[in-house]
Amino acid sequence: MNTEDKIQDAIANPQNMGEMTDADSVGTVGNPECGDMVRMWLKFSEKDGKKVIDRASFQSFGCQTAIAVASMATEMLKGKSVEEAEALESTDLSEPLGPLPPMKLHCGEMVEGALRAALKGDSEDCPEPAEASAASSNTLLGDMNAPAMKSGRLKVVKLDE
Ligand code: FES
Repeated sequence: MNTEDKIQDAIANPQNMGEMTDADSVGTVGNPECGDMVRMWLKFSEKDGKKVIDRASFQSFGCQTAIAVASMATEMLKGKSVEEAEALESTDLSEPLGPLPPMKLHCGEMVEGALRAALKGDSEDCPEPAEASAASSNTLLGDMNAPAMKSGRLKVVKLDE
């Protein structure tokens, strides 16, 4: 199966998609170029005295490649220690799909960015709507308030909650 088929396969049955209500941490990244966004939630547990990722989930307001990579990545992260997860790069996360075409490399990088933000415990980038401003355009809500969203250039795909 080539990469395109694997992506189609992954998005036909994405794993770990949706908000994790009991998450310990969440990270969100957006790409102003394509207007896509990925948010990742992590739940930690402890194994042999080490902090490990028990579960990971995601939402992607983005393209199919980002959804496919996030689906693979959230599966891959289960049971990894924080150090192991920190060492993962976008190419590792998208590895099960095969090499991404150059135009799609940033889709994998978005997933890596969301993972890094979540590992940092950056839940601050989830402002309440009243706090969100166009200035915080690297957040989901910030982007939603950004001019591009208001003018309809960004498309929000509602995922199951
Ligand atoms: Fe931008 Fe895929 S095209 S995340």
